[in-house]
Amino acid sequence: MARPFHLGWFLQGSSLQAWGEPWTGHIGRTWMAPELFIDMARCLERAGFDYLLIEDSSYVGESFGGSTELYLKRGIAVPRQDPSVMASLIGQATSCIGIVPTFGTYAGPPYLLARLVATLDQISGGRIGWNAVTGSSNFAAMNFGLPGMREHDLRYDMADDYMEVCRRLWASWEPDAIIADPRTGVLVDHTKVHAVNFEGRYFKTRGPLNSGPCPQGQPVIAQAGGSPRGRQFASRYADTIVAHTKGIAAMKAYRDDVRARMVAHGRDPDTCKVLFLVAPIIGETEADARDKKCQRAARAAATVPERLAHCSRSSRRSTS
Ligand SMILES: Cc1cc2nc3c(=O)[nH]c(=O)nc-3n(C[C@H](O)[C@H](O)[C@H](O)COP(=O)(O)O)c2cc1C
Repeated sequence: MARPFHLGWFLQGSSLQAWGEPWTGHIGRTWMAPELFIDMARCLERAGFDYLLIEDSSYVGESFGGSTELYLKRGIAVPRQDPSVMASLIGQATSCIGIVPTFGTYAGPPYLLARLVATLDQISGGRIGWNAVTGSSNFAAMNFGLPGMREHDLRYDMADDYMEVCRRLWASWEPDAIIADPRTGVLVDHTKVHAVNFEGRYFKTRGPLNSGPCPQGQPVIAQAGGSPRGRQFASRYADTIVAHTKGIAAMKAYRDDVRARMVAHGRDPDTCKVLFLVAPIIGETEADARDKKCQRAARAAATVPERLAHCSRSSRRSTS
């Protein structure tokens, strides 16, 4: 049934993001266990959400004050577990919600990523999306042995290549390649599994993928590019976009821009759902909600260093 509107939940990492908030219980002690996130996914599924996007990053910040101290003391995006593990557990515990872990296009060969996403798609019964990010932190790049992040637009050029590889690998198996006929003893129809032999500007692969066809054919691609180059990438590949745009006029302009870019790529703009990030404050009554808003503002005012540390997290230069 077509839905009048779509809802996604932006989960800030399978980590301690909300440490200290009442709704996260004793997560400071129980953070290794997946129960909170599984419980959350079940609630979101029950509430009719289309998908749960699991944010990720792969470094410990140290920009603020040139030290990891505040990041570790306050648990700013650390500890943070690998989203693919949480995605597979959530897949087992739910039955229809979409699960969208985040993976970067700057570290590691696309073959590994295509295989991981294909496997997740298979074990979740075709409910996996990939939030494709190009990365932004030099610390993260250095964790993968790179000297630093490449320049912004070049990261998207490389991501184009990366995505092409992944798409071709997912397409390397025709949907009906697995026959599993006990009479003939043939499991796979070899004429329906194809070499890829992709040689792009930045990546190459032989293929085919060895993990079999994806239930969705091509898993869902999510993207959140805000810059013109990011929107260009998103409009080329994304099935859903989450944008951090404030105000109705700006949201409309963003959506119009993405849709026009999709048309220029020869895509039907209705095939991509554009969602906008909002942080509603919910109370039993309006007064209750306003009260919560004041409490939130007071908490924000009391944690300015933490907020600065969070904003400057991906920068290599220190902020004091
Ligand atoms: C809702 C949302 C979720 C995002 N999730 C991640 C994430 O998990 N990891 C990451 O490295 N970047 C994440 N980003 C950053 C985007 O991928 C993108 O880099 C950012 O919006 C800036 O756009 P640009 O890359 O076009 O400059 C997210 C952005 C938004 C708005």
